[in-house]
Amino acid sequence: MRFPIVSQIYYRQGTLIVTAIALVFAFIFVIQHMTYTQTSGPSSGSIRDAVDQALESINIRLRGRVSPISSEYNLLDLDETDPRLAELAAEKCTIDWMNADRLQQDHPCVIETIRRRYLHPPADLDVPYNLVAPNKADPSVGQAASILNYLGNQTKGFFIECGALDGEHLSNTLYMERTMQWGGVLVEADQTSFGKLLSRRRKSYALPVCLSLQPYPTQVTFKVTYAIGSVQESLTPEQSKESNMLTLQCFPIYSILLAVGRTQIDFFSLDVEGHELRILKTIPWHKVDIKTLAVEWDHVGEKPLIDYMGPKGYYVFGRNTVNVGNDLFFAKNDSRHR
Ligand SMILES: *[C@@H]1O[C@H](CO)[C@@H](O)[C@H](O)[C@H]1NC(C)=O
Ligand SMILES: *[C@@H]1O[C@H](CO)[C@@H](O)[C@H](O)[C@H]1NC(C)=O
Repeated sequence: MRFPIVSQIYYRQGTLIVTAIALVFAFIFVIQHMTYTQTSGPSSGSIRDAVDQALESINIRLRGRVSPISSEYNLLDLDETDPRLAELAAEKCTIDWMNADRLQQDHPCVIETIRRRYLHPPADLDVPYNLVAPNKADPSVGQAASILNYLGNQTKGFFIECGALDGEHLSNTLYMERTMQWGGVLVEADQTSFGKLLSRRRKSYALPVCLSLQPYPTQVTFKVTYAIGSVQESLTPEQSKESNMLTLQCFPIYSILLAVGRTQIDFFSLDVEGHELRILKTIPWHKVDIKTLAVEWDHVGEKPLIDYMGPKGYYVFGRNTVNVGNDLFFAKNDSRHR
């Protein structure tokens, strides 16, 4: 007769314990939910952070679809015969998507966008130049001669000149193109200068874009002033009201090289009013072969450039000091004793 009573007591206690445990779990759930709502709401941290996080997660998902990943320089590193290339070039490829998702430097969408929308082909070799001062063989202030001398007066080389201005005035590459049968790529973000550049009939590719300071395509606000146009990353309200502010599309230098199908470069001229080092830092040096560079250091200072280029395998073989800009000339260490 005692057993049923005892079991009844245990039964009641059991019910109480189960109810208590359930209450505790419900309480924990409510608290967690409240905490979650608080931390993910707009009151904690800026909206910009939230957008950045969202973009990052999209990027991670995109990267997850394609492998292997070479993330240091934001590369897809796909084999050229990979069947996914065509799909990636076509699938939802727009300028907005490319920028918002910070597509890889070698993403087919980025390369195709450059080719289709920005790349102007070289003028035919038999089309005469249209120059302001056709008798001035070398409009550079010593850069062309120094580089050519280092390269043993090489003919038929390939250059890329960033900050190409109007394609003639202070051009570091016109001499090579006109008299040494070189070809190359001219990049100029200032639209007025670029119009003039196209009219010169240069025998090189030309692009009206800026160079990205990040290893992915970006858009920036650009201040338009002849010869000293430069990228403005943050603007005061007064500045953004100025009428000479334009929004421009920028591409990583490596994406531009892939778009013209050339990663072996004899001379890279970089003069972009202060962003030289950041642009150099986007370059996947293991993917390109750049023999010589002329880099303006006025805004950056010599030392940071030399400190960065040294471990990449470059030494300074010369300097140019003139009133329109100071250049450092770099060459590959392994070309030192030729
Ligand atoms: C290259 O040509 C220039 C002018 O024609 C000449 O002064 C210079 O010595 C040459 N340099 C080399 C390395 O051949
Ligand atoms: C290249 O040469 C520079 C200057 O002599 C040196 O500082 C740097 O360590 C060298 N880099 C490599 C990768 O050998």
